[in-house]
Amino acid sequence: MTTQSQILIKGGKVVNEDFSEMTDVYIEDGVISAVGSDLQVAAGTRVIDATDRLVLPGGIDTHTHMELSFMGTTAVDDFHTGTKAAFAGGTTMILDFVIPQKGCSLLEAYEQWRTTADPKVCCDYSLHMAVTWWDDTVKKEMETLVRDKGVNSFKMFMAYKDVFMLRDNELYAVFAQCKEIGAIAQVHAENGDLIAEGAKRMLSLGITGPEGHEMCRPEEVEAEATQRAITIAHAANCPLYVVHVMSKSAAKVVANARRNGRVVFGEPIAAGLGTDGTNYWHKDWAHAVGFVMGPPLRPDSSTPRYLMDLLPSTDDLSVTGTDNCTFSVCQKALGKDDFTKIPNGVNGVEDRMSVIWEKGVHSGKMDENRFVAVTSTNAAKIFNLYPQKGRIAKGSDADLVIWDPEATRVISAKTHHQAVDYNIFEGMLCHGLPVVTISRGKVVYENGQLFTKPGMGRYIPRKPFSEFVYNRINQREKVGKPCAVCREPYTGEIISIAPKRS
Ligand code: URP
Ligand code: ZN
Ligand code: ZN
Repeated sequence: MTTQSQILIKGGKVVNEDFSEMTDVYIEDGVISAVGSDLQVAAGTRVIDATDRLVLPGGIDTHTHMELSFMGTTAVDDFHTGTKAAFAGGTTMILDFVIPQKGCSLLEAYEQWRTTADPKVCCDYSLHMAVTWWDDTVKKEMETLVRDKGVNSFKMFMAYKDVFMLRDNELYAVFAQCKEIGAIAQVHAENGDLIAEGAKRMLSLGITGPEGHEMCRPEEVEAEATQRAITIAHAANCPLYVVHVMSKSAAKVVANARRNGRVVFGEPIAAGLGTDGTNYWHKDWAHAVGFVMGPPLRPDSSTPRYLMDLLPSTDDLSVTGTDNCTFSVCQKALGKDDFTKIPNGVNGVEDRMSVIWEKGVHSGKMDENRFVAVTSTNAAKIFNLYPQKGRIAKGSDADLVIWDPEATRVISAKTHHQAVDYNIFEGMLCHGLPVVTISRGKVVYENGQLFTKPGMGRYIPRKPFSEFVYNRINQREKVGKPCAVCREPYTGEIISIAPKRS
């Protein structure tokens, strides 16, 4: 591993979410100590020439499931391979999910996930917590997680009936608790009851392949749950973050809610922006199965472009993740004769930055500043990591990517750094590549080579009440309290109802 504790990045164009400038960046002991020209640097400082290159805040992947045990097997990319691959793609931080089984302690699940991740993880990381059941102990544990463990986001499933799914009254209770403790509620928005019915129907029709996975849960199943979650969150005055927005219909629901002033954020993922659900109909089963995830990719092939159009200036969708949860084809084959048994999940952590640059910036839909906003800064603001993460400024962590906007590569499982044996973006030509990735002041990836050590990443605790999210919520709490009308008491006649006979 390169060990210089001082690095000067010279001659590049530094890009933040709000503006770009030709300037230099000086890094000392893991943080950015100066941004400017003609900087005084210590003897022995390594100088990296960034002429004709962009210098970006490292990517933040808001949604990963490294080595998740799910649907009878365990995701092949663990915290080591997954986060090395993240570096190779220009991502310097991930937010992974702790998912306790129903009835299990959230705190124990958190400790166990830290024990799993800490010795392996290469990049900095933070944890969201899933709430898969509800009672008073869960309520108390949520508070402890926020106060003592640096968790400020909780994901609830509206799908995976009988496994992780919560009912509306439980969602309301969790959302209300999130509001109390200053956390962000996240939802996997799909109607779990309809999926269960749809799956039975497809199987009864003899549809057992990956196409059945999409057909049993069409777009409106996602859109309905998205609208329901927004309604419940509004009733609880709780900020809401909709993970993996996969369809036009669900994206429209999020966009409308935002235009109506709701505090809601939508997260499309690399898979949904870079490919589509026509793959489920591919004649080669081993190809089709690789795309199975929930909610599914959509067969309407204009969906990726539509989702991408909502990311730039309108801010209808705010941030991008990947839902990286990788199962090799032999694991997916658990569902060879029944699509409901296919482990759900796709790759993305390595390719997200390139896919979004290609489909967003190279295509002319967004500029370099918006690219930084949707791949890094907005995530840092929503999850209360800003400006430690998500910005190139004095005092911020030195998580940076030197990006060559002209370089190209073709994505392939043959050359990727992930453990999974296929890639849903196979064959995609991408302009825009990371040439150097720096994580807390250390060069961890340079010209195709990784310089990492398992366990070099840090757990980053996050405080509650992110201002970016909670300013509006708190003001609404103050001014939006319902109040009763003052009236004289009613003194007229009241009918009498005969008591019920038992
Ligand atoms: O297919 C998916 N999304 N797998 C991971 C679990 C989840 O719902 O995020
Ligand atoms: Zn999910
Ligand atoms: Zn997920």
